[in-house]
Amino acid sequence: HETETRSLRTPIVAVLGHVDHGKTSLLDKIRGSTVIEGEAGAITQHIGATAVPLDVVSKVAGKLVNPDDFDLPGLLFIDTPGHHSFTTLRSRGGALADIAILVVDVNDGFQPQTVEAINILKQSQTPFIVAANKIDTTPGWNPEMDAPVQQTYEAQSDRARSTLDSSLYELIGELSDAGFSADLYWRVQNFQNNIGVVPVSAETGEGVPDVLTVLMGLAQRYMREDMEIDVAGPGAGTVLEVKEEKGFGTTLDVVLYDGTVRADETIVVGGMNEPIVTDVRALLKPRPLAEIRTEDRFEKVDSIAAAAGVKIAAPNLDEAMAGAPVRVVRDREIEDVIEEVQAELAEVEVSTQEEGIVVKADTLGSLEAIVSTLEEEEIPVMRAEVGDVAPRDIRFATTAEEPKHRTILAFNVDVLADAADEAEQRDIRLFDSDVIYQLIEEYEEYVDEMER
Ligand code: GTP
Ligand code: MG
Repeated sequence: HETETRSLRTPIVAVLGHVDHGKTSLLDKIRGSTVIEGEAGAITQHIGATAVPLDVVSKVAGKLVNPDDFDLPGLLFIDTPGHHSFTTLRSRGGALADIAILVVDVNDGFQPQTVEAINILKQSQTPFIVAANKIDTTPGWNPEMDAPVQQTYEAQSDRARSTLDSSLYELIGELSDAGFSADLYWRVQNFQNNIGVVPVSAETGEGVPDVLTVLMGLAQRYMREDMEIDVAGPGAGTVLEVKEEKGFGTTLDVVLYDGTVRADETIVVGGMNEPIVTDVRALLKPRPLAEIRTEDRFEKVDSIAAAAGVKIAAPNLDEAMAGAPVRVVRDREIEDVIEEVQAELAEVEVSTQEEGIVVKADTLGSLEAIVSTLEEEEIPVMRAEVGDVAPRDIRFATTAEEPKHRTILAFNVDVLADAADEAEQRDIRLFDSDVIYQLIEEYEEYVDEMER
C-alpha cells in the first residue's frame, strides 16, 4: 500500500459571465501581462485551463501580494464560453470550481447569463468575486496600463469617476436584488458575507493586479484546507467536453481535481447508459505556443497531477458525458470504482417522480441545476436525462397523467427531427432555451395560461 503524499493543490477558478462581457479577454490579459513580466513559460496552458503560479501572481499584483503570506501554489483558471453552460463544472459533492469570477460588462450590467451564473453560484455555494469589466470605456477615461484600480481611479477626472461610480452602484444594486450583499472590494471586510466587486479592464489591464490579489487572498483564507490532497493518489476529475480529435478519435477534456493519472492506467468514466471502463491511450497537453511548428497541437505526457486540465484519449468514449466523473482505478477493485461513479451519477438522477415533466439537458451539471430549480418551484419531474430529445422521450411524456405535465424542457440539446414530428402528433409541448431560468419561466407561463 502506497504512502500518502499530502500536498496543497492549485485552487480551481471558474471564469463566468454573459456572452461578450470579457471572460476570455480577461484571461488573455492575465496570460499576456504575466508573459511581459519576464516569466514566459511560467504560465502553463492546460486543456481548457490556464495555470498561474504564485510567483507570477505576486509579480503582477506588485505590492498587493507578498508571496510569503501564501502557501497555495497559484491559481488554475477555467474559461467558460458564454454559449456553454458552466454548469458542467461539477465534481464530487458539488461545484468543480473552488472559487469563481463573475465577469460583468459594467455598461451592460446583469444579463440573462449573468443571472444564470448567479443562481448556480448560489445553489452550489461557490464563493465568488465580481469583475466589473470594461471600465476603460467610461467616457473621458484616461488609462494607465496595468495599474492597480484604486491608483487609476484616483487619477481620473471627477466626471469620469462619477460616471463609473454610477455604473458600479447600479451593479451593486443588481447583486443586492439577487440576494448578495456586495461592495467595492477594498471596502469588504469579510468576503464570506459580502461579494467584492473589482473594477477592471481586460483591455488596459487596469485592475488586473487587484483581481489576482483578491482571488489569491480568498483562496488562501477560505479554501486552504480543502486544497490538501494526496497528489500521488488515484486521479479524480470531471469531463468538461467530449470531443473528436484527428488521429485520436473521441477524447475527453478533463479537469483533474484530485490525485494523478498516468498514461497507461485504467479509468472509469460516467456514460449515457452505464459507466465506461477503458484504458488511457494518451494523456495530452497543448503544445507551448513557441513549439507550434509541427502539425501536432498536442504533446503527450506520462502523467499529470491535480489540479490540471488534460485531454484523455482512450477507446470507447463515444457515450461519455460532459459533466460526468472520471476516476483512475489504480490498485482498487474495478467494481468499487464503478460503484463510486454510479453513486455520483445517481446523485443527479434520483430526484424523479412517478408523475411530472421530462427534462433533457446537455450536461449532468445543467441537468442538476434545472432539476433543483424545478424542485424549488414545486414542478415535478418524471425523467431527467443528458442527451438530445428523441422519439422515446416524447412517448414517455405521453404517459403523464396531467396535461400540464405532457411537456419536455430541452436545455442546450437538439430535438431530433422525428421527435419533433412525434411531439406534434401526440400533442407534447416542447420548450427549449439555453438559459435555465428562461426555460422554466416559459413553462410556468404556459401552465398559467392553461389554468386560466
Ligand atoms: P464569450 O466567450 O463569447 O462568452 O465572450 P467573452 O466573455 O469571452 O468575451 P471576450 O473576451 O471574447 O470579449 C468580447 C469583446 O469585448 C471583444 O471584442 C473584446 O475585445 C471586448 N472587451 C473585453 N474586455 C474589454 C475591456 O475591458 N475593454 C474594452 N474596451 N473591450 C473589451
Ligand atoms: Mg470567451
